[in-house]
Amino acid sequence: MNPEEQNKVVQAWQTSAPYWDKYRALITRMFAPITTGLIEEARIGVGHNVLDIGGGSGEPSLTISGIVGPTGSVMYTDPAAGMVESAQAEAGRRGLTNIQFRQCSGDDLPFADGAFDVAVSRLSAMFFVDPVTGVREALRVILKDGYVSFVVWGPKEANPFFSTVTDVIDRFVESPKQDPNAPDAFRFPAPGKLAGILENADAENVIARQLNFQIEAAISFEQFWQLRTEMSETLREKMAGLTPAQLPTIKQAVADAARRYFVSGKMSFPAEALIVSGRKPAI
Ligand SMILES: C[S@@+](CC[C@H](N)C(=O)[O-])C[C@H]1O[C@@H](n2cnc3c(N)ncnc32)[C@H](O)[C@@H]1O
Repeated sequence: MNPEEQNKVVQAWQTSAPYWDKYRALITRMFAPITTGLIEEARIGVGHNVLDIGGGSGEPSLTISGIVGPTGSVMYTDPAAGMVESAQAEAGRRGLTNIQFRQCSGDDLPFADGAFDVAVSRLSAMFFVDPVTGVREALRVILKDGYVSFVVWGPKEANPFFSTVTDVIDRFVESPKQDPNAPDAFRFPAPGKLAGILENADAENVIARQLNFQIEAAISFEQFWQLRTEMSETLREKMAGLTPAQLPTIKQAVADAARRYFVSGKMSFPAEALIVSGRKPAI
């Protein structure tokens, strides 16, 4: 593991934490189909002890808390202190008593072997500095025959919620060429890439399922623009580098590109995620 790179990634998420807290309700609604898909794929049910890796502002932990019920438990983890505080505060507001919180990275889990029935991660595996180590850690801390499930974004081109903004901004702000294996939201676009990592980490019965859904909410383009430009550290940085004259031009170009996704006061973007799951060998 490269500690410098790890610190950089965690710091970026630390600065994003207040925005993910601010947009909590909207994010929960927009990404609900991937939470449901992940829970189904990981076979989570009443009484299970579940580990959530990279739980951010609280999902999927908060939803899973209701599914496992009082006889089950959830261990929420995230390396960014601000994310842990945000998730813990929300659990407190909801009066949830079956969730515990630990600030830690997925590649170095402070739990005993076989401590959980199942481990899940929603949209965080792409930020592991060393994904094979992260998957090995997830497998180590679950029981034999238990499942690990990771949900990640599919190709950028299949996710216009992100690309309609970034494609326009990239025409104006030069971006350094990116290493396809560096931590990034679109690091695992092909089903075989993360599945191969699970196999390298010795998971069995590895399956990658494609999940096509709509990212929907009753919001205007203006609200979408604010959400997108605040939620992402990369976008916040790029926006800060624009001249005041460029901003309205870029916003108008994004509005034009995004027009077909806003109809009758509602936002609806097609989206593609991948849920990659595997089983811990029995021996
Ligand atoms: C896109 S957010 C997803 C958060 C949440 N699971 C959700 O779906 O709303 C990515 C999360 O991954 C976390 N993360 C970054 N590096 C990580 C690592 N090495 N191990 C575990 N989580 C990590 C970040 O702190 C951030 O909270």
